[in-house]
Amino acid sequence: MKFRIETQSDYTEAYKSSIEQPEQFWEEIASHYSWRKKWTKALEWNFTDPDIKWFRDGQLNITENCLDRHLATRGSKTALIWEPNDPKEKSLRFTYNELHAQVCKMANVLKNLGVKKGDRVCIYLPMIPELSFAVLACARIGAVHSVVFAGFSAHSVADRINDSQCSFVITSDGLNRGAKQIPVKAVVDEALESCSSVMKVLVVNRLNWPVQMHDGIDVWYHEEIEKVNADCPAETMDSEDMLFILYTSGSTGKPKGVVHTCGGYMVYAGYSFANVFQYNENEIYWCTADIGWVTGHTYILYGPLLQGATSLMFEGVPTFPDPGRLWQVIDKHAVNIFYTAPTAIRSLMASGVDHVLAYSLHSLRVLGSVGEPINEEAWHWYHTHVGKGKCPVVDTWWQTETGGIMISALAGISELKPAHAGLPLPGIQPCLVDAEGNEISGNDVEGYLCVKFPWPSMIRTTYGDHERCRINYFATYKNMYFTGDGARRESNGMYRIIGRVDDVINVSGHRFGTAEIENAINQNKKVVESAVVGYPHDIKGQGIYAYVILSDMNLATNQTRDEIIESVVAEIGRIAKPDKIQFVSGLPKTRSGKIMRRILRKVAEGEIGSLGDTTTLLDPLVVDEIIKGRL
Ligand code: WT7
Repeated sequence: MKFRIETQSDYTEAYKSSIEQPEQFWEEIASHYSWRKKWTKALEWNFTDPDIKWFRDGQLNITENCLDRHLATRGSKTALIWEPNDPKEKSLRFTYNELHAQVCKMANVLKNLGVKKGDRVCIYLPMIPELSFAVLACARIGAVHSVVFAGFSAHSVADRINDSQCSFVITSDGLNRGAKQIPVKAVVDEALESCSSVMKVLVVNRLNWPVQMHDGIDVWYHEEIEKVNADCPAETMDSEDMLFILYTSGSTGKPKGVVHTCGGYMVYAGYSFANVFQYNENEIYWCTADIGWVTGHTYILYGPLLQGATSLMFEGVPTFPDPGRLWQVIDKHAVNIFYTAPTAIRSLMASGVDHVLAYSLHSLRVLGSVGEPINEEAWHWYHTHVGKGKCPVVDTWWQTETGGIMISALAGISELKPAHAGLPLPGIQPCLVDAEGNEISGNDVEGYLCVKFPWPSMIRTTYGDHERCRINYFATYKNMYFTGDGARRESNGMYRIIGRVDDVINVSGHRFGTAEIENAINQNKKVVESAVVGYPHDIKGQGIYAYVILSDMNLATNQTRDEIIESVVAEIGRIAKPDKIQFVSGLPKTRSGKIMRRILRKVAEGEIGSLGDTTTLLDPLVVDEIIKGRL
């Protein structure tokens, strides 16, 4: 079996063999990596517990595969390009030799601070090179990284630290975001007031800001780094040892810690990167995600580095200093492969095509999209103006839980259809089921998207609560992993993702549970009850629409609105701000007290004509009031 798919028939052959003999297929792919000890069994699994083990008894270290393995042949090749927020600041480049040294030094710093194999380390950093060093340094010494996006609030950081009992935090004084500078260490300080597990905080100096350093706890990275050398042997890890935890929202409760393990994640990250983007040696690859999300984990760091690629990381935002920034960076670094989110494309579309036309973009060969369904208009704009009609656009469907891209075209190989993710990657067995869990066969059908066979980078558990993992993903439909998405399978077998079918909303590619936002709103003392739904938003994909009952209708003012937004910012972070807040005197509930979100969703979408049956409601009149007050 070839590792690299080069033609349509390679794909057909690889897919066929991956279904007929999955274990043999993945063993061959896995043999392209370096293992300290070979596995004894490729796969053991059941989706009932669930219990999934890939490459059992195999031993490895993923950083040896990302770094050491390349030094002989690619030591002086650039591994990482860092482009700062401010275009006037110098960009940085790290060769594989240099990145290896930086990671080893950071790993030695962590060891000096007492970090040991198995310890959980919370990384709360902006997109600076030290974030990459930190992630890989944890992996090098077998510590489990839990990266928390630096836009989350102190509450969210504390919840995540406490849930996985992190003993260390890596952070920075502050961060740059366009024209703004935002405190980071201060957020950690506030979070740590309610975290007792943390022993040390390593602080990176990004802005030369004065920060409060607590004796015995806080240490500066630039001081610690002086005390270590660049010699740090990689820890031996079992294939199923934990590599990282990444928190993501579900339809109920607090965000859960999705757990990925070393061996399977490595194999799938490298394989999917190489094949979806068709990376060629000497190409420059840029994924605009933040490393705080899974896209950054798999497709800024692990996937590209596993394949010896040059990966660009960007500190800034698409609109600073102007909406031409992404295109300027592409020209500046001669980027060949560019991977971004539909929300970024739509917001740049809205700023006008002149910003794109000002740049040549001739280096581009492949474009990618991720995070939410890409609408046809955005797809065509991206294809025509950014790709000049000559670059394939791969629409990659996957999730935090899947670890890597599951359904996507392979650049330049597969047939493309706007707004269609396409066919599954080799080894991936998606299926559609009806509400009873019966598999829907044939094409031109629609249903709930599930996966019926394990793949190497799938979620293993949710940290500290295996039952939650079982209930969330494996209990809805027997013997299937349930994605939470609805999808269509077209006549040619291509998949079109429709969107979430659970109480999860996707705002600019960020995932929130409606319950999570309601909890945050309800922290406000004036609020009695709230219900949150998503509605179509031109740029964000989905916007957040909140229906709020106040203790006193006289409080229904813009000031209260601002205060509610403040509650959400404090509880979750600025990324979860409601777009619309409608004050209501009641919510449409069934006689058993269940909120009928279907009705709230229709009103938010403006589809008032098709509310369906409202006669079973406890108080049908509230619907009229809600419609009248619609924002
Ligand atoms: C949800 C997962 C893993 C990438 C970042 C998001 C939606 C993701 C697509 C796509 C349509 C997509 C799904 C999925 N989604 N990619 N190409 N087309 N929808 O990861 O935060 O775990 O969210 O994002 O609804 O379930 P995530």
